[in-house]
Amino acid sequence: MIDMQQLSFRYESAQGNALTDITLHIPRGEFLGIIGPSGAGKSTLLSVISGVIPHHYTGDFYGACVVNGMDTVEVTPTDLSRVVGSVFQDIDAQMVSSMVEDEVLFALENFGVPAKDLDSRVEEALATVGIANLRHRSLDTLSGGQKQKVAIAAVLAMRPQVLVLDEPTGELDPASSQAIFRVLRTLNEQGTTVVVVEQKIMLLSAFCKSLCVMDRGSVRLHGTMREVLAHPELLREIGVNCPRVATLHEQLLAAGLSAGPVPICVEEAKAMVEGVLA
Ligand SMILES: Nc1ncnc2c1ncn2[C@@H]1O[C@H](COP(=O)(O)OP(=O)(O)O)[C@@H](O)[C@H]1O
Ligand SMILES: [Mg+2]
Repeated sequence: MIDMQQLSFRYESAQGNALTDITLHIPRGEFLGIIGPSGAGKSTLLSVISGVIPHHYTGDFYGACVVNGMDTVEVTPTDLSRVVGSVFQDIDAQMVSSMVEDEVLFALENFGVPAKDLDSRVEEALATVGIANLRHRSLDTLSGGQKQKVAIAAVLAMRPQVLVLDEPTGELDPASSQAIFRVLRTLNEQGTTVVVVEQKIMLLSAFCKSLCVMDRGSVRLHGTMREVLAHPELLREIGVNCPRVATLHEQLLAAGLSAGPVPICVEEAKAMVEGVLA
């Protein structure tokens, strides 16, 4: 679905590369989490997928990014946005309306969706993220979590095959963060390819299928959640916190106990400990 080949990018105003020699294949139906320290290039990578780079931010672009057969450099951002829906980090800046309904309608009208379909598309998008009841509310009366859902609904209304989100839970409490990730999981189960940048490793390990760890413009680790979490020392060196279930596994191994494969959730950790105690 998304194919990056030896991709490098340097922002026009910058000295060094923001991305260096990224080769990354993201298959259709993937639910990929991206993590890494600040400045690692996570947002830049999403901007390449959504075409913001190089169409809005210019600079030196080498290599290629192909999304659903479209070379992101060759096609217009509008054509790309029919396939890729993006939720940026600063959703307040992304919002263009004062009412929930208008926010979702805005993109649809711009996309030339026939007037007779607008109503059902808005309703469907709001219902998918569980906020049909907020349709006639003013945006400035909503909580952070509710606004985040509006931002996702506005993108979903376009029915994108790929959804990219940049730290969608950044300002949310744990319950709202979980709610956002449950929405993403539902969309992924329905066939949407999801790529999400997120700082909280527990959310990623609980929901995503795969994980990509970035550091200083490069992909340091990429694989299934279990493959990546099997490298706790490397994760620590990069500055990524390991989930506690993985740390526990590491400690059991260090104590000379045979703990089996690394657990990626609390249930698996419980089974691991029971196995060791047996
Ligand atoms: N608009 C920009 N102009 C110049 N440099 C930028 C711009 N945006 C990001 N950078 C630089 O590119 C690198 C990667 O940034 P970014 O992709 O935002 O990282 P992350 O999202 O992982 O924190 C950083 O060194 C950052 O300073
Ligand atoms: Mg960022």
